[in-house]
Amino acid sequence: MKRCLVVLFLAGWAYASAAPSTLIANVSARTTVSLNGSWRVIVDPFENGRSGFFRDAKAKDKSDLVEYSFDASPVINVPGDWNTQREQLMFYEGPVWYRRTFSYHKREGIRTFVYFGAVNYKAIVYLNGEKLGEHEGGFTPFNFECGSQLREGENSLVVEVNNARRPDAVPAARFDWWNYGGITRDVMLIEVLPPTFIQDYSIQLQRGTDNVVSGWVQLNGARAAQTVVLDIPELHWHGTLDTNANGWGKFRLTENVDRWSPDHPKLYDVVFSGAGDTVRDQIGFRTIEVQGSKILLNGKPIFLRGISMHEEAPFREGRAFSPEDAETLLSWAKELDCNFVRLAHYPHNENEIRLADRMGLMVWSEIPVYWDIDWTNPATLANTENQLRDMIARDHNRAAVILWSMSNETPVKPERLTFIKQLAQDTRKIDSTRLITSALNHVDGSGAEPRTLSDPLGDVLDVVGLNEYLGWYWGRPEDADKLEWKSTFNKPLIVSEFGGGAVAGRHGDPGERWTEEYQDKLFQHQLAMVQRMPNLAGLTPWVLMDFRSPLRMLPGVQEYHNRKGVISNRGQRKLAFFRLQKFYAKIADETK
Ligand code: GCU
Repeated sequence: MKRCLVVLFLAGWAYASAAPSTLIANVSARTTVSLNGSWRVIVDPFENGRSGFFRDAKAKDKSDLVEYSFDASPVINVPGDWNTQREQLMFYEGPVWYRRTFSYHKREGIRTFVYFGAVNYKAIVYLNGEKLGEHEGGFTPFNFECGSQLREGENSLVVEVNNARRPDAVPAARFDWWNYGGITRDVMLIEVLPPTFIQDYSIQLQRGTDNVVSGWVQLNGARAAQTVVLDIPELHWHGTLDTNANGWGKFRLTENVDRWSPDHPKLYDVVFSGAGDTVRDQIGFRTIEVQGSKILLNGKPIFLRGISMHEEAPFREGRAFSPEDAETLLSWAKELDCNFVRLAHYPHNENEIRLADRMGLMVWSEIPVYWDIDWTNPATLANTENQLRDMIARDHNRAAVILWSMSNETPVKPERLTFIKQLAQDTRKIDSTRLITSALNHVDGSGAEPRTLSDPLGDVLDVVGLNEYLGWYWGRPEDADKLEWKSTFNKPLIVSEFGGGAVAGRHGDPGERWTEEYQDKLFQHQLAMVQRMPNLAGLTPWVLMDFRSPLRMLPGVQEYHNRKGVISNRGQRKLAFFRLQKFYAKIADETK
């Protein structure tokens, strides 16, 4: 049955008037050519390659002087960090040149884009010696159109990757995770035919309703004013909307949908087709909002049984990227009886987010505004806004993502507040359907006094995150029994970090650091304490799995690993794992 979408020209209605990013959405549903695999690499600590490596030149004859050769250089796998692929690169930070050759058959009317899932940290991309563009930020995707540079036959794609840390970068020069460098996620050519295509779209249940689905479509190309068809076969829904001269169109439809939730992660096949292009996606419909100190999912209060996690590969270590890595990590979270994961401290790969959608795990996604950064530097702000925009652009159609986090443990000072206020404003403009949060760690009070959360950043947020390390960095685990907490915000509180280190398999007196018993005791007292905290709406203890960190050097204990995992990087479940699992099972039972 043909239904008419309400095509909305109403001014000021909740959406901006063009897609926020040039990112091509939902690449896995596009026609693509994978460029993963072995790439030749040249490690270039003095950035000597700027003189011409991008040309991928070959010596013309025996007398010709060319002092580099990709053909003769070692290979490295893409996707993947270089640190865990070559021992001598474990601590390497700096420029590395990557080259991939591929043959291509050009066809009339096809537009092509080269797409990177992520490159840490800075990437400069060349195709057949011509620069396509630059990208900064190690955890968000980017694409460059490359029609004119692409050749019939043999092509050479060269990328200068540089993971050198800088004080004006985001993150800045100091952070508690390994600075894995490289082309860390998938690379592909995207082919779009016809030349006007569906670049991005948004579709979600409108907040405060259970039957109004709304969204927008953004076409990219010369013939931008088009009729786009939206199909939701399972709902026998078929409607059309018109895009304007900028290729932009909005829609709203009224339909009873089976709503997505952790216990029922319902996804619908949704098909957008227009201008001869068709994009299919799997969409969950749900609403997320706050009411006083409660977080409401689909209009009902929900407690977030969560765990924090890094994008570290289980067992083999290194930057995680594959569907298998995601399966292992998120299955461990499910085994803990979690319904929520905090993906720290940067946007994780799309495999994890899409799996969370299917598994029914709600997601906290964060940009790496971590500890202290160059708050007053306009370039730092612009860089952060780009990362924020692209984090949202990639995942805004995922029902699982409920929280956008602006920062982690940043110092209380005016320039920081101004900076993060700007990010929150940007976020609300781009995506008004989700909640905004940050992980704070400044509280008033000391000694036995009550601790009061009053960081002014709390006023900017919908949900307040709190990192506290009572029992590890200060006090003893049992001090939690007596400590009182207050908050000046009548907003939901998530204890976004608490925890302590333990070496898996090390057992001893509960008072002895680094034993599983010490960590378990800390969890015991923490889990009792948090239940007395005001406005508690969720938890994400630090951390799911031990992870590599350059800040953790204790021999025989840390060996460059943060050992606060409830699971070791070898998959050993520590005592605290089972305590947390039991605690969540009880809550799940009580809130059924
Ligand atoms: C901090 C920080 C984490 C860090 C953790 C720790 O709070 O947010 O990134 O790893 O504490 O000290 O282990």
